[in-house]
Amino acid sequence: MPRFAHITGWGIAVPEKVLTNNDLAQMVETSDEWIRTRTGIRERHIADEEEYPSTLGARAARDALRMAGLSPRDVEMIIVATSSPDYPFFPATACLVQDMLGAKRAGAFDVMAACTGFIYALSVATALIRTGTVNNALVIGTENLSRIVDWQDRNTCVLFGDAAGAFVLQAAEEPGGVLASALHCDGSAADLLLLPAGGSRQPASEETVRKRMHYIQMNGRAVFRFATRAMAHAVQEVLEKAGLTTEDVTLIIPHQANRRIIEAAAKQLRMPMERFVLNMDRYGNTSTASIPLAAYEAAQQRRLRPGDLVVLVGFGAGMTSGAVLVRWTGPLPRRPRPRREPGLGQRLRSRWQALRQRFQGKQEEKPPAPQTERPSTPEAEGSGQG
Ligand code: ACO
Repeated sequence: MPRFAHITGWGIAVPEKVLTNNDLAQMVETSDEWIRTRTGIRERHIADEEEYPSTLGARAARDALRMAGLSPRDVEMIIVATSSPDYPFFPATACLVQDMLGAKRAGAFDVMAACTGFIYALSVATALIRTGTVNNALVIGTENLSRIVDWQDRNTCVLFGDAAGAFVLQAAEEPGGVLASALHCDGSAADLLLLPAGGSRQPASEETVRKRMHYIQMNGRAVFRFATRAMAHAVQEVLEKAGLTTEDVTLIIPHQANRRIIEAAAKQLRMPMERFVLNMDRYGNTSTASIPLAAYEAAQQRRLRPGDLVVLVGFGAGMTSGAVLVRWTGPLPRRPRPRREPGLGQRLRSRWQALRQRFQGKQEEKPPAPQTERPSTPEAEGSGQG
């Protein structure tokens, strides 16, 4: 029987604090007008000191599990895509999320494909489900980009924001869910967008800190050119794989980097802008969180309904790009939960009850007190037994 990976729950977590373009104009030489017209961004959310990619990711995941009607114990795999992990090398942010959720049966790992990370993670989770490795998976995109942005660099600091988004993927025999994916990379352009220091190539030192090498560095114009080509190409490729055209698709949910990049991709695809979901005006570029955040809002607004065909498409540092074609599902009908093996506490209680019953039964069956005139002897007891 073929198995499909359905998206059955979705959730988000957005920090409360809002940073507007006018706020930014107090920090660097820029203006609301420049940022809005060049990017489409009006404001972004910024995590507070006690919010991390892991805490935001866990919040979004709880939301998504509630919608899917699953408990954390049902989750067998957690894949976190992030460009700003809690720790630079290990442990994976997914492991922290696993602990916060209490997802005791789940494996957990991170995917690093920058802003395309959520698309890569969805594809991997789908493969794990379709091959029967797991039945239920969480895919999370989560970011604290505000911690790796240079707040003195107007070329980058106006673009990014913090947020998290999560999908629950579940196995089902009914066709639907993630139907095809197209993943690409051009590593020769890796220097267009990078965070130069803090890795093993340039470990943190007094010099790397002084040279501000622990922040995002970007060649904006070159990234722009790459993005428009890569987005249109990935959409076309994923549709071709499924034998479909743009006409068959209800919506495109693109990575929310820049309104003008999406307009250029729409032009190349000959699709009207109404069929693209846009929300970067309120969140900015939230990297791996931007696609699940846009999907969440489209579903809330009922622009995205069960049965719709949608393409999720992204690009990012690497330079990576990719798209997935999805038949949107929503929560599956509840199935009776399989009976769990009783835990130690329950086993001890059952045993105690059984012992008590036996003891009480013995009390009730107790023979009358022995009669003094006819003492019981082994011989007497054994009489008649040969
Ligand atoms: N405010 C005012 N002026 C600015 C600002 C700012 N915030 N930023 C740059 N400028 C200036 C530049 O210094 C330049 O001035 P100059 O001509 O005197 O040198 C001028 O504006 C024009 O700069 P451009 O780089 O040509 O501006 P452009 O129209 O290309 O817009 C932008 C810049 C918004 C960064 C655009 O190139 C872009 O969106 N690129 C893609 C970025 C992107 O998507 N990055 C995320 C990738 S996803 C990931 O993996 C993290």
